[in-house]
Amino acid sequence: MRTATSDPSSLLLSPPPSRQQAAMAARVGLVTCLPLCAQVRGRFLDSLHRHLSSPGTAILKREEPPAGSAEPGLQEKSNNKTFSEVQKERREQAQRSILISCPKKVPEKKLLKHLCQHGEITNHFFFESFGIHAVIEFSKKESIASLQDATFIPRGETEFPIPFKSRFFHLNLKNPSNQTSDGMLVQCSNQSSPLNADLIQTLCNAESVEGQIITLMRTLQITEENIRLRYLSCSLIEDIAAAYFPSCTIKPFGSSVNSFGKLGCDLDMFLDLDDIGKNSATKTAGPFLMEYQVKSVPSERWATQKILAVIGECLDNFGPGCVSVQKILHARCPLVRFSHQASGFQCDLTANNRIAMKSSELLYIYGSLDSRVRALVFSVRCWARQHALTSSIPGAWLTNFSLTIMVIFFLQKRSPPVLPSLDYLKNLADARDKCIIEGNDCTFVSNLDRIKPSENTETLDILLCQFFEYFGNFSFNKNSINIRKGKEQNKPDSSPVYIQNPFEPALNISRNVNESQLERFVHLARESAWILQEDKGRSSKSSSHPWGLAALLQPSVSNKSKAKKPGRGPTGEAVRKLLESIKADSSKHSAATREERTTSTQS
Ligand code: GTP
Ligand code: MG
Repeated sequence: MRTATSDPSSLLLSPPPSRQQAAMAARVGLVTCLPLCAQVRGRFLDSLHRHLSSPGTAILKREEPPAGSAEPGLQEKSNNKTFSEVQKERREQAQRSILISCPKKVPEKKLLKHLCQHGEITNHFFFESFGIHAVIEFSKKESIASLQDATFIPRGETEFPIPFKSRFFHLNLKNPSNQTSDGMLVQCSNQSSPLNADLIQTLCNAESVEGQIITLMRTLQITEENIRLRYLSCSLIEDIAAAYFPSCTIKPFGSSVNSFGKLGCDLDMFLDLDDIGKNSATKTAGPFLMEYQVKSVPSERWATQKILAVIGECLDNFGPGCVSVQKILHARCPLVRFSHQASGFQCDLTANNRIAMKSSELLYIYGSLDSRVRALVFSVRCWARQHALTSSIPGAWLTNFSLTIMVIFFLQKRSPPVLPSLDYLKNLADARDKCIIEGNDCTFVSNLDRIKPSENTETLDILLCQFFEYFGNFSFNKNSINIRKGKEQNKPDSSPVYIQNPFEPALNISRNVNESQLERFVHLARESAWILQEDKGRSSKSSSHPWGLAALLQPSVSNKSKAKKPGRGPTGEAVRKLLESIKADSSKHSAATREERTTSTQS
């Protein structure tokens, strides 16, 4: 018998209990639920559909091509939002949102009705990370203050709660026995990356290699809800940092926002204190200039370390849901690393890292320019991870950032180019785009509509194969990769791989990579080019074994290649050409030597 009361006040909200100190959820599941009224639901589903059709950024108007076709000329050009517009919109959305840890069985309708007392709800969804959580988005910020006024600090029995009033709540049922039968087990769709075997199977079912590449991106990319959760997590941390620095902002950067984010990727956060400084630039009339009394330290790095140390301490002591806080202050880029248990994100909080923010914007621009860019980057990143060419642990391997720059460079090198050089983007910039950071010119156009679409019509399968062929034969010993020029240049030092930092020309972003990692990369790239060449024209219908991209993600890629006949495929072709040119060179050389000998004998 259903005994649950329909009184929405039977739900109690409190900040999450401090005993939530278990290890963090590595994987997060999310589920989207229907918002309150049909009109809102219509709006929401509409926007969700739009976002999922070009996910990752949720903003792109230049659409992905349908599976199996690349139509680079057909992308819509107008109404593309700039990176800053997107960031602003998302941040504002996050500031109107709250996070609630819920009981296993959530009486969803009652919860929404209960929360509606504080204002209109425009959106909500549930996800799983150490229990069920809800993200509720109000239409106005004021609703949150009203809810906070009606929320209790829990009374601990064995532990003493630190009375910190955040936007992260815990939902209690007043009469659990009455209400559990009323609550539904919320179905949480799994938003973590699929298991490898499932991914391979999905890829094998695709129609073509191009279809596989697009499927891979759609399967792995971060979802609309995941993006919202990332911005909300930053916003929650911002509330804590604002206790010390009221006008600070915490912005996500890196793959959470650059359109190349994969489910499960870390959440890079940037503590921006610039707005605090901005006010002091205001000129006032009169004979005096008022300044704040401040403490000073010998360098900006020192200041960053001090600020991060304090915020790290705050997160550790008062941050609801923040666990395993590590202050890594002596790194090249000082940071606070922690797990945001409630969202399931591994977070890296940095400050004074404006160039990384600008790099994220640049990657976002490149990812938005042509639908093939993101698809290729996802395939290459996934391939590299599968073969342990990249890792989540720092070491002598390539990073996802370096790999993305390599894909961009390769696409700049196509004929006609798929992507323009950074210098070209700089030439299109207007006065508002001007940006100098620490003496480095980081100017480039922000308005996507000003960039001419590419005339290159190569399909994704060709581009992927060519990527491997290109880097399988790249002169890493002589040349550096430079996306500013869109051309390789002489290497300025002897690092095995030299990828010029787009905004700090004197820096090599892959200086950590050693010879043996480079050798593995080159070897696997060659083998992969060969496999794709072999699998040309194959489809799910003609193959009983993993084929195309699925074959590249198999650990057996190098074993498979060992069985290949010499002289076949692109690598074989490259090796054959190399041998021929050596042979030709040596015969020229011996002819010349012979000639020399003859001449000297004659003389
Ligand atoms: P994931 O591996 O999915 O997290 O990719 P990511 O792009 O977020 O990379 P990561 O978390 O390692 O770094 C975050 C951001 O910092 C990158 O997107 C870059 O903008 C920047 N970054 C990372 N490595 C370097 C580097 O070596 N040099 C410079 N200048 N910036 C870097
Ligand atoms: Mg990252």
